[in-house]
Amino acid sequence: MRIVMIGSGYVGLVSGACLADFGHQVICVDKSAEKIEALERGEVPIFEPGLDAIIAHNRQAGRLSFSLDLAQPVADADVVFIAVGTPSRRGDGHADLSYVYAAAREIAAAVTGFTVVVTKSTVPVGTGDEIERIFREEFPDKDIKVVSNPEFLREGAAISDFKRPDRIVIGSEDERAIDIMREVYRPLYLNEAPLYFCERRTSELIKYAANAFLAMKITFINEIADLCEQIGADVQKVAKGIGMDKRIGDKFLHAGPGYGGSCFPKDTLALVKTAQDFDSPLRLIETTVAINDNRKRAMGRKVIAACGGSVRGKKIAVLGLTFKPNTDDMRDAPSITIVQALLDGGADVHVFDPEGMEAARSMLGPVVYGKNPYEVAAGAEAIVVVTEWDEFRALDFRRLKTEMKVPVIVDLRNIYKPEEMAKYGFAHFPIGKRKTKA
Ligand code: UDX
Repeated sequence: MRIVMIGSGYVGLVSGACLADFGHQVICVDKSAEKIEALERGEVPIFEPGLDAIIAHNRQAGRLSFSLDLAQPVADADVVFIAVGTPSRRGDGHADLSYVYAAAREIAAAVTGFTVVVTKSTVPVGTGDEIERIFREEFPDKDIKVVSNPEFLREGAAISDFKRPDRIVIGSEDERAIDIMREVYRPLYLNEAPLYFCERRTSELIKYAANAFLAMKITFINEIADLCEQIGADVQKVAKGIGMDKRIGDKFLHAGPGYGGSCFPKDTLALVKTAQDFDSPLRLIETTVAINDNRKRAMGRKVIAACGGSVRGKKIAVLGLTFKPNTDDMRDAPSITIVQALLDGGADVHVFDPEGMEAARSMLGPVVYGKNPYEVAAGAEAIVVVTEWDEFRALDFRRLKTEMKVPVIVDLRNIYKPEEMAKYGFAHFPIGKRKTKA
């Protein structure tokens, strides 16, 4: 198959590289000359474990290339994926589809012969219909079918999520398009990944409903965590106990500082707006969004309480800035709000993250960027773990105890055992379980 990926951002690059790895001929297109030049130099603009090796291998094999020009690759393609951004529109929270429609028009102008155009970007229900209307009315002589094929990959685990998905959702009722999509994913369903065919609108909604459900599940356990703290129960054990029920499942039940990232905050908001527009409000999701927003600030207050009610003039060490580990992505990261709350409280905030500090510079206020956990913790009156990077799991607590001014750990990801923290002489403030006094 000759495949073109429009948009070489996160989803486009990972999907393009993996499809090439399955033996397809893939060209990734982007409007940013800077990005395409970097990719052609062999630089990968995002941090995703394993992605650089797959890109290098498939470029060498001649199956993957990059292009600033859209017209020629599209003219030769069997399938064109739209993987451009759909950010929240400023002001009203709806998904901004201007990039999607602009790409659709450019694609239609360039298409020759029968071509399948696939929306890979997360797009609100009805977007496929609108693209089809544009094609029908503005490009009546072109033979194009529009398919929805949402992407469910997680940052940091994107390659394995793409190659070993729980399912591949394909929204189309057109036989020719379905045949082509079967061919695109043949290597995967040989791997026994189920292809799930449904109507295009249903497919578009599946993506939003999946993300909203997961965001709700996280928010549920976060609220249970708060209750655990009040009544003296342990949220990790509650999560395990309910997760053993197969109807609930044990995934996405880690209590923490609230969800962030490029998908959950944006997609929950967009779904809420769509539902309101259709006069069918999703109150559970509206509440999820509100609880998650409040939670981030509440985490700042939790740190202040752990420091005896004030952080004014105190050095606070923040470990982990990205919205989760194994990514350099800072979008909607809880750290942004938590750091702001600490700065508002008058703290001297020192931060460290293995991959996120470059992106963080434009998002955080006046903080000090350290070189490692020990540098930021020296002289600090609390360590706050915001992101559970592996390298924070086995810190040298004896050393930290001697170098910190006050041995306090606010463990917003529950990565340390309370008994161990007590042994090292730390006051430990986990999420959803009893705190341990030093
Ligand atoms: C998510 C979806 O998982 C993926 O299917 C979709 O395609 C894009 O959005 P991603 O944003 O990369 O992926 O990260 P994910 O691992 O889902 O985590 C999202 C946020 O939820 C992070 O801030 C994470 O820390 C938080 N989270 C996740 C929890 O707080 N607890 C959990 O149990 C799981």
